[in-house]
Amino acid sequence: YKLRKFVDELPNMPRIKGYNLINGVPVSRSLKIGMFQKKWKFHGQLPATAVFAYGTSRRSATVPGPTIEALHGVDLYLSWRNYLPSKHILPWDPTIPTAIPSTKIGIPTVVHLHGGIHEPDSDGNSQSWFTARFNQVGPTWTKRKYHYYNIQQPGTLWYHDHAMGLTRVNLLAGLIGAYIIRQPDIEVPLRLPYDEEFDRPLIVFDRSFYTNGSLFMNSTGNNPTIHPQWQPEYFGDAIIVNGKAWPYMIVRQRKYRFRIINASNARFFKFYFLNNLTFIHVASDSAYHQWPVILKELLLAPSEIADVVIDFSKSNSYSVILANDAPYPYPAGDPVNEANSKVMKFIIKPYKYEIDMLRIPEQLIKYPTPTSSPVSQIRYIAMYEYTSTIDEPTHLYINGKPYEAPVTEKPNVGTSEIWYVINLTEDNHPLHIHLGLFSVLEQTELVKNKLDEFKECMIKKNDAKKCKVSKYTRGKKVEVPAHERGWKNVFKIMPGFVTKIVVRFSFIHSNASYPFDATNEPGYVYHCHILDHEDNAMMRPLKLLK
Ligand code: C2O
Repeated sequence: YKLRKFVDELPNMPRIKGYNLINGVPVSRSLKIGMFQKKWKFHGQLPATAVFAYGTSRRSATVPGPTIEALHGVDLYLSWRNYLPSKHILPWDPTIPTAIPSTKIGIPTVVHLHGGIHEPDSDGNSQSWFTARFNQVGPTWTKRKYHYYNIQQPGTLWYHDHAMGLTRVNLLAGLIGAYIIRQPDIEVPLRLPYDEEFDRPLIVFDRSFYTNGSLFMNSTGNNPTIHPQWQPEYFGDAIIVNGKAWPYMIVRQRKYRFRIINASNARFFKFYFLNNLTFIHVASDSAYHQWPVILKELLLAPSEIADVVIDFSKSNSYSVILANDAPYPYPAGDPVNEANSKVMKFIIKPYKYEIDMLRIPEQLIKYPTPTSSPVSQIRYIAMYEYTSTIDEPTHLYINGKPYEAPVTEKPNVGTSEIWYVINLTEDNHPLHIHLGLFSVLEQTELVKNKLDEFKECMIKKNDAKKCKVSKYTRGKKVEVPAHERGWKNVFKIMPGFVTKIVVRFSFIHSNASYPFDATNEPGYVYHCHILDHEDNAMMRPLKLLK
């Protein structure tokens, strides 16, 4: 099939306030959001597609789900409800360590608020899954109603499914949505676009479809004797923004703010405008920068967020295409083609009385610099890929260990740690850490002609110190891009490099202690955010200690 581009208008997902107002005063709120199977139109020319969608009712459920707008300091209690049928719309791989090794008893789901700083039993632990009407629950499940404190820094988060071994299929089916924490007293004075009309999430992902409209995902693995279905990366032909394939948006000649979330399984995007318009990068994953950074291109890994301002009054044409130029897999895969090199189109309609009072401030928000806190622990985190005799990946591990192996990372609450993340694979892996925020200090290449020697030692001994990591960490240093030097919860770990990060297990805006017990079960996790890797099994537990 061939779908025409730019025929559907960009949807603005429904917005739900994460608080109540009583006489104008915001107070906490309880919400119910369900997961429903329904039909969704991804494109005017394509028959409707069966999807899993979040919403307050089946009728209002959307892909992506509603944008939740929380207020800093106001609690939100959310009960996520599973109303899904017993059979998944996508293929199942029983050889992946999955929540339930059968499709007979319902679809396990559990929601993680990505970028959120909250208690372990509201964090959406992969083993805290539940099926429809809580008929079955996972081994670490404790409660129906999650408590989001929202006392972290203002910024953009997103919520998505996190069920053990099913994350890639549950997100592919549509279980994705944006979540914004606002703090008007410090954000409004910045005079960035802040109203619904001019401040819009853009959730971008790739999907393939059958001609009948249903989602296409390979049902045969590259290594069928080992994994009947699992493949190391899912890539789709069509680029979807806010639930429409290659949409268009009509804009005025003024500044807009877009909170761009890469919700793909495995695709990186290198965004740029065909007419050279620039991105003014004001924040990344859930935190503002100290100052804006102007960019011509913007590389986003799966799950990374870019909060950018685009000033359409600076455009030299009345329509502009947002394009993509990232090879897939990234960085050593295929170049983009006609279809996946285009993302969406902006059509600029001049408006006679346009007065844009918004500005780009020189200073945004200054948080304490990463190195100011004492470091309590140094760790080495190595990323491995294991292949079969036919040289196809069978699984990926962190530190040579499966998820089920006893927890090895046990940071103390309120401390900072240095992690040296060693990427021994050929792909770039977006590392995501729950609870903690981190900042990247250094990226050093492993000595090229000794890479194999080091890899061999690591595979044998699985101990960076015993393998004399410092002897190999002597290649060139690559600067961390200006817009990625702030606080992040995802970072692109380059292949053949050691990336040094400082992770903080407390708030970045104050030393206030967590208002919950972070040492509780079931703890947290950290993982590669390529969903197909995370599922098999590039994820490890993270246990906080007092
Ligand atoms: Cu966005 Cu553990 O995930």
